[in-house]
Amino acid sequence: MIKKLTIATLVLATFFTSVGANEDMSQWLRPQTAPQPANNKLTPERIELGKLLYFDTRLSKNDKISCATCHSPSHGWTDEVPAAKAVGFEGRVGPRNSPVVLNSAYQRHQFWDGRAKSLEEQALGPIEADVEMNMPLKELIPKLNKIKGYRELFEKAYPGEGITKDSLAKAIASFERTVVSTESPFDKYAKGDKNAINTKAKKGFELFKGKAHCIDCHDGFNFSDGSFQNIGLNKGELKGKELGRYNVKKRAAWYGVFKTPTLRDVTKSAPYFHDGSVKTLKEATVICSQGGRYQDGVKNKSDVMVDRHLSDDEVDAIVEFMKALTGPDLDIKVPKNFPQ
Ligand code: HEC
Ligand code: HEC
Repeated sequence: MIKKLTIATLVLATFFTSVGANEDMSQWLRPQTAPQPANNKLTPERIELGKLLYFDTRLSKNDKISCATCHSPSHGWTDEVPAAKAVGFEGRVGPRNSPVVLNSAYQRHQFWDGRAKSLEEQALGPIEADVEMNMPLKELIPKLNKIKGYRELFEKAYPGEGITKDSLAKAIASFERTVVSTESPFDKYAKGDKNAINTKAKKGFELFKGKAHCIDCHDGFNFSDGSFQNIGLNKGELKGKELGRYNVKKRAAWYGVFKTPTLRDVTKSAPYFHDGSVKTLKEATVICSQGGRYQDGVKNKSDVMVDRHLSDDEVDAIVEFMKALTGPDLDIKVPKNFPQ
């Protein structure tokens, strides 16, 4: 018996070290706990309350839109609309494509231009935005205070704080911290199951890290290093929202730069890029590997956005690799009954 166990252990040990023997694969695995601010540690009460608020359409002016309208669990935590830009209150079209909420807890900055530093800071923006939920907080806070069920749940989650914009933001952020990626075939591979992804995806991974330089920006377990880059989607002078992070502060280095998005579950979140201008992963890969949509005439294009001269097969291999980054949908029960 003992002998059998030892052999089994040996076999298992070789199996688990056989993938990337020279490479630390743990850098690709999601850290178990998401970072949490000192004044808003996760508790089951906070997560549950935040979840109700996230799915509650009463947070919008016309009682029709919730966070989930644009960041839905059944659509990879982005919107269901095939349109490039987000569609909110009474069909108003916002200036940008809805990003995924998945793994946003691990991001240093929120929004494409990084204008919010925390999920708490981010949460109140869409409620008030006229193209999203169009609900002024000075109307929403009294509206929520009239709902007995919410008064009780807030008291349990944030004793003594009442329903304020701060406790509202903290509750929503708490739920978002639980919206994290699940185990994808790639994660199984990184843990040592060398058959979890196919040969083409393995080749794609090597290209992703090597010749194609994707990893220069899409690094770490979330396949984003959180950096802001101008990848050359537009040329010439930029206007309005296309200025990206430059709108946050007029620094030359921030001209037309946008946050590098996660590639986790990326098969679920088409269309792509901040302007939703690209429909397929293949097209996105071509743009990212050939030095941008425009090779010339781009002001402030990232230095690493250069043509990597990939063949069609190589592009396909990278797409195959990205498909392996998709895990099963998060097991989450969407609330049907809301506090009254
Ligand atoms: C009408 C669609 C719409 C609704 C409703 C909406 N959002 Fe968004 N959300 C967006 C768009 C578009 C962006 C990107 C805006 C930008 O970057 O300028 C965004 C950005 C975000 C981000 C930042 C993600 C990242 O990677 O930077 C988070 C988190 C988020 N929303 C959460 C929420 C929450 C919580 C609610 C509900 C209170 C909500 N959203 C309601 C469309 C929507
Ligand atoms: C210079 C940094 C950089 C490099 C190198 C890079 N990317 Fe990106 N990638 C970005 C940024 C920034 C965006 C978002 C740009 C925007 O919307 O303006 C992006 C967007 C994407 C998207 C769309 C994701 C979404 O949710 O919208 C995909 C897919 C993608 N990149 C794949 C790749 C692949 C594959 C490679 C290698 C061939 C690569 N990228 C190389 C920075 C980079």
